[in-house]
Amino acid sequence: MSTIVQTINLTKRYGKLVALSNLNLKIEQGECFGYIGPNGAGKTTTIRILATLLQPTWGEAKVCGHTVGYESRKIRPLIGYVPDYFGAYEDMVVQEYLEFFASAYGIVGKQRARVVGDVLELTDLAYKRDALVNSLSRGMQQRLSVARVLLHDPKVLLLDEPASGLDPRARIEMRELLKELRRMGKTILISSHILPELADLCTTVGVLERGELLFHGTIDEIIRRAKLGTRVEVQVTTGQEQAATVLRGLTGVKGVEANNGRLMVELADDARDFSFLARALLDAKLPLRELREEQVNLETAFMRLTKGNVQ
Ligand SMILES: Nc1ncnc2c1ncn2[C@@H]1O[C@H](COP(=O)(O)OP(=O)(O)OP(=O)(O)O)[C@@H](O)[C@H]1O
Ligand SMILES: [Mg+2]
Repeated sequence: MSTIVQTINLTKRYGKLVALSNLNLKIEQGECFGYIGPNGAGKTTTIRILATLLQPTWGEAKVCGHTVGYESRKIRPLIGYVPDYFGAYEDMVVQEYLEFFASAYGIVGKQRARVVGDVLELTDLAYKRDALVNSLSRGMQQRLSVARVLLHDPKVLLLDEPASGLDPRARIEMRELLKELRRMGKTILISSHILPELADLCTTVGVLERGELLFHGTIDEIIRRAKLGTRVEVQVTTGQEQAATVLRGLTGVKGVEANNGRLMVELADDARDFSFLARALLDAKLPLRELREEQVNLETAFMRLTKGNVQ
């Protein structure tokens, strides 16, 4: 597998403000990387550097092995960058807009008509080919932005919050489009404020805050990291108090709390096997009804991570 994006101690300052601090990121071919962080974290700064539009103050950024700065020209044909704004294109219809950019990429003649047709189909905009660009809804404009960067068939897509400002349906459509691109083998970097939005799309995520990477890994890892020990929900048909006493007496149990007719059992460390809880309850002849590990919600995991509230 080859590394498509790599940053080495990437640092960016705007005057005294340190927007990125020693950032070390690695994205492999075919990965869909979710770049998550609150406002001002440094997401756009990173993406603009990778898109060769900004120079690092310190450190290095590489795309497909080429270094931003002295090899920027080699990088540009390989990337498709969708910024977090859509420029104004008055009096241009969708088809012209795409043909204009295709020409800029050096795609001409019959090939141009074919490529424009293909990206219009892929982004579900074929029925809008004669509509004025400025008359499109925000969701359609976002899809058109993606269509534009697909014209030259880039290997890497750098998408800065492509789903911001979209209604729930348009968000789902955008996600489906990105999944399709992932299936086509594109390597994707996509930024967002919220983790749950990216969970089923991304293979790996990075959590950035104030220019520092708090976490880099898979969704499963992020959940494991954010979990403070294992919590198991236990329900008995009767004798809840007695069950709580039995569980509290076990080695490996840190605490037991009653919650909504269930017992929340906190285990010491990140225990994997909690059959001993069931055994103890059955030995005490308590009617066990349910026993399962608490699912950590992605929102909770994200909040814990960004509060620095991790082990
Ligand atoms: N051109 C600039 N001049 C000075 N400071 C800047 C400039 N661009 C960005 N910054 C600062 O750098 C920091 C990171 O900004 P950046 O736009 O990269 O964050 P972001 O994660 O994309 O935020 P958002 O979620 O709001 O888009 C912020 O503190 C911002 O104010
Ligand atoms: Mg931004």
